[in-house]
Amino acid sequence: MTACIVGWSHGKFGKLDGETSESLIVKAASDAIAHAGIEPRDIDVIYVGNMNGGFVRQEFHSSLPLQTHPDLRFKPSTRVENACATGSAAIHMGLNTLAAGKARFVLVVGVEKMTELNSAQAGEVLIKASYVAEEAAIEAGFAGIFGKITSAYFQRYGDKSDALAKIAVKAHRNGAKNPFAHFQKEFAYEFCRTPSDKNPFVAGPLKRTDCSPVTDGAAAVVLADVGTALGMKQAIAFRAAEHVNDFLPMSRRDIIKFEGPQLAWKKALASAHLDLLDLSFVESHDCFTSAELIEYEAMGLTAPGEGERAIHEGWVERDGKLPVNVSGGLKAKGHPVGATGVSMHVMTAMQLSGTAPGALQLPGAKLGGVFNMGGAAVANYVSILEPLR
Ligand code: COA
Repeated sequence: MTACIVGWSHGKFGKLDGETSESLIVKAASDAIAHAGIEPRDIDVIYVGNMNGGFVRQEFHSSLPLQTHPDLRFKPSTRVENACATGSAAIHMGLNTLAAGKARFVLVVGVEKMTELNSAQAGEVLIKASYVAEEAAIEAGFAGIFGKITSAYFQRYGDKSDALAKIAVKAHRNGAKNPFAHFQKEFAYEFCRTPSDKNPFVAGPLKRTDCSPVTDGAAAVVLADVGTALGMKQAIAFRAAEHVNDFLPMSRRDIIKFEGPQLAWKKALASAHLDLLDLSFVESHDCFTSAELIEYEAMGLTAPGEGERAIHEGWVERDGKLPVNVSGGLKAKGHPVGATGVSMHVMTAMQLSGTAPGALQLPGAKLGGVFNMGGAAVANYVSILEPLR
């Protein structure tokens, strides 16, 4: 155990007209610093998780947190990018900085302002997170990549559209309890299962309700070393933090195996000396419902090809043996790409400190797992968190 989250903030996710990445960063940063109970001058190092790539004209983001307070001027700050795992990548930079003894307090802000573009234009930006030389010509942006993965999975293991629809229903049922979520309403199974004008096919077997939305939002954490964290009013410790990158081209991998996520989970559970079912809950990267399905297999909840059992038998529901995405996940909470990994850690810290708002709080949550993924199982981060005391 090397570091802790000692303060956090989470803004409302959604289509946030009138906000900019700057305004989102400033609010998230100042709220997280206040939540930690420290002053801006106490921050030693800053990381900004932001993918951008054309979502907004402002590309250079590292100094935007300095707009929060004059005392942040001259602090070293760096923008970090690792596709949809950008937020976790920024947190890992913070953990490395603390482990090197180069800071007592690190501020990490994750942000993305996506909705200045329409969905098709956003897809053009997101497809840059594929292996462009071979994969960028696919239709429907990044959804096309997962449409292809889903088709391959269905070819090997049979049509799993029932399971995908149930995963979407679960996400929206959970998201309805989350005041920070992009979508806060329940979706009926028949609506998610049946193609319609309101739920058209987007890519391969994936319908609109199988996709995470295009979302604006920001979240932030303050990290501290364990010695410092012992004196803070709240401290959620990293029992494990693992990062595994795989080859970028899908042609070099068996793409429905998610071997990178599998290894990241294996390493994290081993270094935490835990079994998967010791965890009270998991926040997993459901950019598409089929991603969540395959992740059940990668985390070791089911054998390959049997991921559907986890949803059909209720294991991953709020009251199941391993609740997955009680926050609503990317599917309902939204997926502002640079913010997502930070958001997952904040949602987990809230649960573990017993401070999740209202009906979102899980009773008795003790250990939380986070899996954040960049690209199609390319940049894979697993964290295991627990209260320090
Ligand atoms: N799930 C459920 N409903 C959605 C939705 C989603 N993902 N996206 C949009 N909607 C709803 C909107 O709220 C709107 O509802 P309303 O008519 O009641 O107001 C309606 O669908 C139309 O919204 P619109 O934005 O015009 O939809 P769209 O067809 O242009 O975009 C997707 C839908 C799925 C194509 C788009 O959200 C998308 O590209 N998602 C994937 C993003 C992505 O690839 N992220 C990176 C993953 S690694």
